[in-house]
Amino acid sequence: MPIDERIEAVVTAVKQSAKYGDTNEATIRELAAEAVRQHKKTRPAIKAVRARLHSIMAPYLGDPDYAVEAARLDAAFAAGDDTAVATICLDCLDAHLSTRERLPIMAEFYARIFAITGQPDVLMDIACGLNPLAWRWMGWPVDSSLRQGEQAIQFYAYDIHEPRVAFINHYLRLEGLAPLARVQDVAMQFPQETADVALFLKEMPRFERNYGGRGRPLLEALNAKYLVISYPAVSTHGGRNLTNRYREFMVQIIQGYDWPVTELLFAGELVFVIEKR
Ligand SMILES: C[S@@+](CC[C@H](N)C(=O)[O-])C[C@H]1O[C@@H](n2cnc3c(N)ncnc32)[C@H](O)[C@@H]1O
Repeated sequence: MPIDERIEAVVTAVKQSAKYGDTNEATIRELAAEAVRQHKKTRPAIKAVRARLHSIMAPYLGDPDYAVEAARLDAAFAAGDDTAVATICLDCLDAHLSTRERLPIMAEFYARIFAITGQPDVLMDIACGLNPLAWRWMGWPVDSSLRQGEQAIQFYAYDIHEPRVAFINHYLRLEGLAPLARVQDVAMQFPQETADVALFLKEMPRFERNYGGRGRPLLEALNAKYLVISYPAVSTHGGRNLTNRYREFMVQIIQGYDWPVTELLFAGELVFVIEKR
């Protein structure tokens, strides 16, 4: 079978799978092109793509039921019920491990970060997961009477999970923000937008492992005044302290740049606020 047809067969099979079918097609295609070069037969190539996606998508971190939560949000916004909106956001954040771990520190987290960077007018959330649902805890005034796009803040968000991005845009619209969440593989295409602050939370170690050293080029390419890079402070399994390991890792990634760095240590999360010059 010609190589193009083999790639297509792998993409189609993965796109039809229940576990990984929600992934950005461009990401699957790139992995499929690599896999068919390494495996002569289609079945092992599909298996190889699924194994890579297991690490990249980390489905084990969890997802809410997007249709159910979108309907709950619609009802809460229609009723003008801010308490219900906040509860639904917290439920969604609780459904994914990265944001669940941040819940106890969430308001303090953004207050301390933005005390250094200034409250941004344009924010980027790279490999965002469900984090944009933390919007109400990020320190901007909440005004649920605003319609789509009336909010002055621009909140860009990037992820490769299609229903997650669609849900985030649904939420942003309800909050009066422009729907600037994108299905974009940031390893293949670095974000081109300009921002005051770019968040890249709890993804750098996996990103480096999955994309063999594209972490530093990503940070170099970002058009942001401040980069906010975070790491889990303790391991998920076993509760091992990871702060020293990730401190060294961060130093290595930005070695050679005279970017001023402020370290913030929260319960469970180690954050580096980097002023990009
Ligand atoms: C561990 S979660 C982190 C979520 C969020 N940053 C947080 O800390 O709450 C990683 C997220 O990155 C996304 N992701 C992984 N590789 C990506 C890529 N190449 N481009 C865009 N998103 C990616 C995954 O789909 C997942 O939602």
